[in-house]
Order: sequence, then structure tokens, then C-alpha cells
Amino acid sequence: MNSEPDYLNADLKFSGTDIPSGKMIWRSPSNIALVKYWGKKPVQIPQNPSVSFTLSKSCSETEVSYTPATPGKPELEFYFHGQRNLQFEEKTSKFFESLSGIFPFVNQLKFEVRSKNTFPHSAGIASSASGMSVLAMVLCDMERQYFGTLQKEEAFSRKASYIARLGSGSACRSVYGGLVIWGETDGVSGTSGFYGFPVIEGVHEIFADYQDTILLVDAGEKKVPSRVGHGLMNSNPFSTKRFIQARDNMAKLLLAIRTGDTETFIRITESEALTLHAMMMTSLPYFLLMKPNTLQVIEQIFAFREKTGLPVSFTLDAGPNVHMLYPAAIRKDVKQFIDNDLRVFLSPLGYIDDMVGNGPEKIL
Ligand code: DP6
Repeated sequence: MNSEPDYLNADLKFSGTDIPSGKMIWRSPSNIALVKYWGKKPVQIPQNPSVSFTLSKSCSETEVSYTPATPGKPELEFYFHGQRNLQFEEKTSKFFESLSGIFPFVNQLKFEVRSKNTFPHSAGIASSASGMSVLAMVLCDMERQYFGTLQKEEAFSRKASYIARLGSGSACRSVYGGLVIWGETDGVSGTSGFYGFPVIEGVHEIFADYQDTILLVDAGEKKVPSRVGHGLMNSNPFSTKRFIQARDNMAKLLLAIRTGDTETFIRITESEALTLHAMMMTSLPYFLLMKPNTLQVIEQIFAFREKTGLPVSFTLDAGPNVHMLYPAAIRKDVKQFIDNDLRVFLSPLGYIDDMVGNGPEKIL
């Protein structure tokens, strides 16, 4: 196992009266896992490696203003789409508190966080990935600006990914664009359970601009938090086998991505999605996040693929909505397929046309 980077640093503290006021704005995307992270060890170390596409349009945009605070614990107010949100406030405060050994300066500041998502909150898109990665970017940017460290892009991103992981496991993959691995992976040196690792070379061109149309089957809020789902894997009777299977799927999927083998890509990603939900159904207590229309959409995708031979596939997150994955070249056919066969199964929110993206962006 790669050793854990030691980011504890008591020097990252403002001296005396030299505490700044300022503002930063970052945008960071969500991501969709192809091999799923489901099951973890303390502290937020995955039981198996995972790999995801970073998305382009589905982002959190977060403005963080800071002013000097009275010393002690971090002070923070959180506004989500302009409204004070006490649930996010508590979560973010706890997150910042937990980082006080890594970023001692957070204890010296009062924060006002204003965040919005570019996708409907109720759409069940992994908003913790975008929401936590964006905060990690801001904190590392503050460190870079005020303490002169993290000047090298690689060091900056690695630390941001490490911090994002502490906020939410899958968030560590959103710090990079393209295809991102999290967790030690056979045959890919540099991969780690402590931070994400971007796959920069050798991705076949068909996957470089792969499309993800998120079909919003159900607009309801997520009923079972991921944290609880991960915890249930500790007693799931199939978990050991599942963790081995994920490792095996990583190797097969990464090879398919390098060679442009869409057939294997489809087989592995769809199996991963169904296995994720099978794990939920076989946990105790068991739970079911798919809806009747999730299955309707999946059946339609199978039928469309059978009829046309086009490489359209699906994956699922921890929710009922279906991520439809396909190469950019067949966008027109897929659009027609949605209009003719899928729309009837979607909620009034419809769908979001997303695709592989480039990762976080500094706005201010
Ligand atoms: C199904 O990253 O949301 O989306 O680490 O507890 O915050 P925490 O969980 P989270 O879990 C995501 C699980 C998943 C699969 C994946 O993204 O790999």
C-alpha cells in the first residue's frame, strides 16, 4: 500500500494580527463511477479500487468569503442557492473542524459559503462529490495563496484530492478531469486509497469525449445516505467476493478503455451497476433504490442496443436515475431514442446531457 502523505502542518497559520479577508470561487464537477466504490474502511479508505468519468456540466459552484474570526473553532455559515442551509452548514463545519491539523488557518477565519449546483438537487446526482471537491479546491487555493506552498500543479491536485476524499470518498475523483482511479489498482502504479489518480495516457479516442445522458426517472431525495450503505457492506454476506470482483473488473475495464473495446466496456459497467444495487438488496437491513421506471429504461436500452447494434449502455449511481453512456458520434441516434422511447418513463425534470469533462475550474 502506498504510504499516506503527511499533511499535518502547524505552520499553516496566520501570525498575530495578519489575518486576511477575501473571497474565492471555484467550480467542481460530479463524476460517475464505472467500477463502483461501495464499502470502506476508516478513515474513508475504499475496500476496492474504483474508476470514474469526471462530468462536464453537473457541477457545484461555490463562493467562499472569509474574514478574521475570534480564535477557537471554525465559524461558518452555509447558503445553498441563496438560502441558509443548516444541514450543509453542520456538515461543512464538522469537515472544516476535522481539517484543523492540516489547515490550522481555518480556525482563524469566519467563513461564508455560498454554493449552488448546476443540476437539480433532487436529481440524485452525486452532489457530495462536486460539493466536497469544490471545498477542497478552495482550501488548497487558500494555502497556496497565503503560504506559498502547493505551487506545483501535481502537488496541489494531490492534496486537494486527499482532502476531498476526507469529505466524501467519491469526491477525490472529481479533482481531475477525464478518467480517474481511486484505490490501489493492479498494473497502474501511483494509484492509492488516499487520493485519486488521473489516467492521462492511453485512453482510446472513443472514450475521450464519451457522453453521459442522465435520465431523471425520479425526482425524489435520496432515502438512504451512501455512508449508511457503505457501512452495511461490513456485514453483507457477499462483500468479500464483491471486493475481489471489483479488482478484476478494474483490470478488464481499463484494458477495454485502452483498446476501444466498447463491448467489454458495456458488459463491465452494466454488471457493476447491477452489482451495486444487488449489494443494497442483499444488505441487512435491505433497501431498494431502483424504481419501476428505472427498470423500464434499462429494458429499453437493452432493446435499442439489440435492434440497432449501437454501443449504448447504462450505469446507476446510488439512486433510481439512469446514466446512459455512449460515444459522441451517435449522439443524434440517441437523441431520437430518448424522444421516441424513453421520455414517457422520465420525471418532469427530463434529462441532463452531460459528458466527460476537464475537472475543477477557478472562477475567482
Ligand atoms: C454509489 O462517495 O457518496 O456513488 O464516502 O460516504 O461520502 P461517502 O460516499 P460516497 O459514495 C459513492 C458511492 C457510489 C459509487 C461511486 O461513486 O464509486
